[in-house]
Amino acid sequence: MTDTQSTKSVQALFRPFTVGNLSLSNRIVMAPMTRQFSPDGVPGDHVAAYYRRRAENGVGLIVTEGTVINHPDASNQPNVPYIYGEAALKGWAHVVSEVHQVGGKIIPQIWHMGARGQVNDYTEAEIAELVQQFAHSAAAAKEAGFDGIELHGAHEYLIDQFFWAKTNTRTDRYGGDAVGRTRFAVEVIEACRAAVGPDFPIVFRFSQWKGSDYSAKLVETPEELASFLQPLVDAGVDVFHCSTRRFWQPEFEGSDLNLAGWTKKLTGKPTITVGSVGLDGEFMTLFKEGKGAGVSGIDGLIERLEQGEFDLVAIGRALLADPAWADKVQQGRQDELIAFSPEILKELY
Ligand SMILES: Cc1cc2nc3c(=O)[nH]c(=O)nc-3n(C[C@H](O)[C@H](O)[C@H](O)COP(=O)(O)O)c2cc1C
Repeated sequence: MTDTQSTKSVQALFRPFTVGNLSLSNRIVMAPMTRQFSPDGVPGDHVAAYYRRRAENGVGLIVTEGTVINHPDASNQPNVPYIYGEAALKGWAHVVSEVHQVGGKIIPQIWHMGARGQVNDYTEAEIAELVQQFAHSAAAAKEAGFDGIELHGAHEYLIDQFFWAKTNTRTDRYGGDAVGRTRFAVEVIEACRAAVGPDFPIVFRFSQWKGSDYSAKLVETPEELASFLQPLVDAGVDVFHCSTRRFWQPEFEGSDLNLAGWTKKLTGKPTITVGSVGLDGEFMTLFKEGKGAGVSGIDGLIERLEQGEFDLVAIGRALLADPAWADKVQQGRQDELIAFSPEILKELY
């Protein structure tokens, strides 16, 4: 993936896509990226301008930064936005309206950062409360005008802590085997589905890798992946967002399919791929080593998209660095793309 220029037609990225009552003009999704620019959890005008800028420069769907539910353990960072409460929801309604004004679509990523101790410590009553708070936020997102929601079930945050055998050793119905460990997510998805109705898209993000262990696996085989995903499908997921650090890596031996490819094949649901698209280095080096990444070509990505391996493509750091990434790619202006430098995070515009 060292080429810097793409030689293939990028047309596959610019075909429309529809799921439920959400119609997108193209396949480019802005990945959820925490910014910590919302004092007291309230997104202000600059947040609206930041997302509007990506929408007016051709991003088909924006997934917002993680937005936290109303629970004491949901966030440990004061400037991460809430997805509850009058002030935050008013702020979000303004963000949504700015994005809609320029023809964009936007969904919030709904997040709980994780158990204060272990998920084993939560009692059934507290789990029921958590489930309800996810559903309240889903309903609030719809009310604020968002076009769907994404549930953050990845990266060792709360929902993923329930999924992972290392962090969930419960012996009740929220634990046990891999399917038992999906129980919490299933209840969250079902409650959100009940809160938003049948046609409002629910995207579910999950990952094998964990912040504390890149080689961690929720599942080792396609069969295990199928039995992990089926309860989530049955609960009401419309789209899976399969978080990997490098989209071109095969998920299992014996096939080139990546996690999004396998997930689509096994569930029949549309999927979003993500991980170092358009860049020559993966994103955790930013957090662990303060590293940036250079621009790389997207021929390999386009080939997979053309083959139908996945439906949508999430772009993270490349869209922080360059709000016009989508338009430049569409217009064949790849030589104008801006590399990702960590400095950009200080003054995201
Ligand atoms: C600054 C930053 C903040 C992020 N915050 C979140 C987040 O809130 N929720 C999430 O699911 N992923 C988060 N991620 C991961 C991205 O969504 C994405 O999966 C990752 O950056 C890989 O895509 P990329 O290689 O195109 O950057 C974040 C990544 C970055 C760089």
